[in-house]
Amino acid sequence: MSVILGIDIGGSGIKGAPVDTRTGRLTAERHRIPTPEGAAPGDVKRVVAQLVEHFGLPGPVGVTFPGIVQRGHTLSAANVHPDWIGLDADSLFTDATGHDVHLINDADAAGLAEARFGAGQGETGTVLVLTFGTGIGSALIYGGTLVPNTELGHLWLRDKHAETWASDRARERDDLNWKQWSKRVSTYLQHLELLFSPDLFIIGGGVSKKAEKWQEHLQTERSRVVPAKLLNEAGIIGAAMMAAGSDPALAAVLDEPAASAPRKPRG
Ligand code: BGC
Repeated sequence: MSVILGIDIGGSGIKGAPVDTRTGRLTAERHRIPTPEGAAPGDVKRVVAQLVEHFGLPGPVGVTFPGIVQRGHTLSAANVHPDWIGLDADSLFTDATGHDVHLINDADAAGLAEARFGAGQGETGTVLVLTFGTGIGSALIYGGTLVPNTELGHLWLRDKHAETWASDRARERDDLNWKQWSKRVSTYLQHLELLFSPDLFIIGGGVSKKAEKWQEHLQTERSRVVPAKLLNEAGIIGAAMMAAGSDPALAAVLDEPAASAPRKPRG
């Protein structure tokens, strides 16, 4: 089965579309439902079930989540309701939809999609996909293989929490022009360069639509920087790729129950 429903849970909207996972193309128009106020699990679950019903597609469903996902559990909630922490969200969605649901972190999904079908296509080295929106999401990919749940938006740059200081929300909150925001992002990218020496940074999230505003201002030492290509479809496509089981090793880490339930991260 190659056409799979992908659903992307975002801060303002929950979007779904069927994806041909061999080509990365959507086979029907996206359907979007506003994210319920507070994004509590029970409310989000109902919207996911509505989207599944809307498309009426048989087979597994891929769903993104804006936090850590390990063995079907959601383990952090920086920008959603705290009730997600420690929740067996895989079972929650599977029970609500009657479909086999596969969960993946939103930036990891975007990263998988960009690496395979977008701006990272054909790249053999280390690729870091960063999504700038309400938070900063990250996906680390080497030779096409994803290392899930890197959470590099939560790095500290001296006394600055990266996502609080350099996300797109921070740009709006602090009323920064694009050059000022790019300066913060450059500091962040240069720190990541020191840690990972990526061959390529792919800049995704809402800002990828406005690359002409920031691209010329971003400065790195060695790595190339390009805007993401799949724009706001990347999460949907990556979620569907995950559900299609295109990477069995990844499925083992994200989906399969551990001998004991995963522990909540501290902090
Ligand atoms: C979360 C990440 C997520 C990113 C983008 C961060 O606050 O911790 O898991 O990928 O926001 O949504």
